[in-house]
Amino acid sequence: MVAMEESLGIEPAPERPSVDAAADFTRAIEHGRPDFAHGVILYLDDISVSFDGFQALNKLSLAIDVGELRCIIGPNGAGKTTMMDVITGKTRADSGTAFFGQNVDLREMSETEIARAGIGRKFQKPTIFENHTVFENLELSMKADKRVRTALFAKLASDERDRIAETLRLIRLDDAADNVAGLLSHGQKQWLEIGMLLMQEPKLLLLDEPVAGMSDDETERTAELFVSLAGKHSLVVVEHDMAFVARIARTVTVLHEGSVLAEGPMDRMQNDPRVIEVYLGR
Ligand SMILES: Nc1ncnc2c1ncn2[C@@H]1O[C@H](COP(=O)(O)OP(=O)(O)OP(=O)(O)O)[C@@H](O)[C@H]1O
Ligand SMILES: [Mg+2]
Repeated sequence: MVAMEESLGIEPAPERPSVDAAADFTRAIEHGRPDFAHGVILYLDDISVSFDGFQALNKLSLAIDVGELRCIIGPNGAGKTTMMDVITGKTRADSGTAFFGQNVDLREMSETEIARAGIGRKFQKPTIFENHTVFENLELSMKADKRVRTALFAKLASDERDRIAETLRLIRLDDAADNVAGLLSHGQKQWLEIGMLLMQEPKLLLLDEPVAGMSDDETERTAELFVSLAGKHSLVVVEHDMAFVARIARTVTVLHEGSVLAEGPMDRMQNDPRVIEVYLGR
């Protein structure tokens, strides 16, 4: 059949698996594809991490639902960033359980494998390609197997252009597509990095202090962006800006000394004496 199509000059198959797709498949067999059927995207249980005897995470347990927008708050040193380091494989937990979906054991995976499985992370300092345009930044951050095809056909397929255009609109940089990224404002750089993460089609996005240093207007636009991403993606947002958290939060988790101190709606957390004592009252 294929031979006949070829002899007639017809493209035999629209999608040939690339080298990367084959590698992904091998890894998927090793670790299992994430199974979100039970509605939970991230499950941490009893996670402990110590640095030279200092307990940064102390039997931390947390579950995030598919499509949820969860905010994590807590004082400096509470373990918020360390928690993200454990989820993404940057730091290894000493004990406990960490699952992506029902079946993907994060503790057995490398940072690269975790990212490929669908967990994207935004660090505080944007890691964009300063000398490239906004459009090129998004193009460069598409999944590697798509880049292989791009190189093959020397121009972007129209569905890929559409995805970039859609992301540009979402991050409000459609008017800046041809601008050099290094010249963007601080807030715009943050949005571009979020856009670059989105190009990799993550299921779960981890955002550590995303509005730090943003103007009030940029913060408000970021709130709108996150609210619009929830549902399609699951988001875990760490922030000290309580007005921002109040604006976007559904469920808020309060970390203190490496464990969950309290969890619930923002107004309940704001009136919880324990939360006021360790964090909000300061
Ligand atoms: N690699 C490391 N080596 C030693 N100690 C560390 C390391 N990473 C974090 N810590 C310590 O673990 C504790 C938790 O730090 P972490 O960065 O997770 O806090 P955080 O909640 O993110 O705080 P902040 O709100 O200030 O960002 C801190 O006391 C920190 O000094
Ligand atoms: Mg931190």
